[in-house]
Amino acid sequence: MAIISSNIGDNEFPLQKKELRLVDSTILSEEKRNNNLNLARPATFEEFIGQEQLKSSLKIAIDASIYRKEPLEHILLYGQPGLGKTSLAFLIANEMNTKCRIATAPAFERPRDIIGLLLGLKEGEILFIDEIHRLNRLTEELLYSAMEDFRLDLTIGANRGARCRTINLPRFTLIGATTKLASISSPLRDRFGISQKIEFYKLDELKQIIVNFSRLININLDDQASYNLAKISRGTPRIALRLLKRVRDYAQVVNKTNHISSFILKKALNSYQIDEKGLDSIDRKYLSFLNKNNNIPIGLDSIVAGLGDDSSMLEFVVEPYLIQIGFLTRTPRGRLLTALGKKYIDSKNDNF
Ligand SMILES: Nc1ncnc2c1ncn2[C@@H]1O[C@H](COP(=O)(O)OP(=O)(O)OP(=O)(O)O)[C@@H](O)[C@H]1O
Ligand SMILES: [Mg+2]
Repeated sequence: MAIISSNIGDNEFPLQKKELRLVDSTILSEEKRNNNLNLARPATFEEFIGQEQLKSSLKIAIDASIYRKEPLEHILLYGQPGLGKTSLAFLIANEMNTKCRIATAPAFERPRDIIGLLLGLKEGEILFIDEIHRLNRLTEELLYSAMEDFRLDLTIGANRGARCRTINLPRFTLIGATTKLASISSPLRDRFGISQKIEFYKLDELKQIIVNFSRLININLDDQASYNLAKISRGTPRIALRLLKRVRDYAQVVNKTNHISSFILKKALNSYQIDEKGLDSIDRKYLSFLNKNNNIPIGLDSIVAGLGDDSSMLEFVVEPYLIQIGFLTRTPRGRLLTALGKKYIDSKNDNF
């Protein structure tokens, strides 16, 4: 039972409904804005390229829940940034023909934030919580009974005046997304009926995503150009789409064309200081920093301090790709440049 007396006083509770709408719109507004901008999100399983095993498990779970006329089980999606977790949540809601309410865990500062959102849900709706590893303890505890029994167990008031109150909730589905599975407590993790990892994408899948998106933004891409772009997209749709938009800018401004050949692609990438391996100035800065350290492993904190860059950007975007292409290893004592990585950065000689 979550004890929330310090945050919700007796007098506040009857105001919950009014409070609720405020909380609801505050938490949701950011995502709604993003959502309007993000026309690329796949709306159906057919449009969602790749991740075949994941899609097939989800389809079965969705069909089973429709067959039984029950809400879908709670789903935990984990994987690196930009691989499609948020897109999947929208897509699942679309396939279930229901609404998806979106929130990010850090937005739940006080217990009444999550209470408000839960009370505002309707039967069968989906609540998507991004960065779910960042929930605070009280909010997380409130979710336990909400997820398991569709019930809120609250203690209102303090000390001798404390009263317990149980509120029934509509049966909803929680979809949680995280880049850090290990940071989720096991009681929370165990309450998800379905837990799925989203993997990096294969080359042909990324190429397909690029081709589909190029049609959406009225760009015509050579087969070779879309293949080359896929190759440098780090297995990540978001990076592929971002690069494609930048190359479109270049083609339209410099070459006055909507047709992107592999030659124009190369020139565009060059102008953005992205080389043939898909590495940019941040990657090269990172590799140069390790190179100066004379083959001694360095911890991530020291690298962050040395480069002044955001640690999650280095950990989740820069490093996985450098490891994937064999330029970097993570040892128990820290990060280490490989011979291949050293050869590459020496050849660039810091003057790309
Ligand atoms: N399988 C896919 N097919 C087509 N487009 C995709 C696919 N996966 C992701 N995308 C596109 O890539 C972009 C990033 O996806 P999304 O925002 O869902 O990633 P995410 O995993 O939620 O990232 P984050 O961890 O940063 O929140 C979106 O524009 C989405 O349309
Ligand atoms: Mg997301």
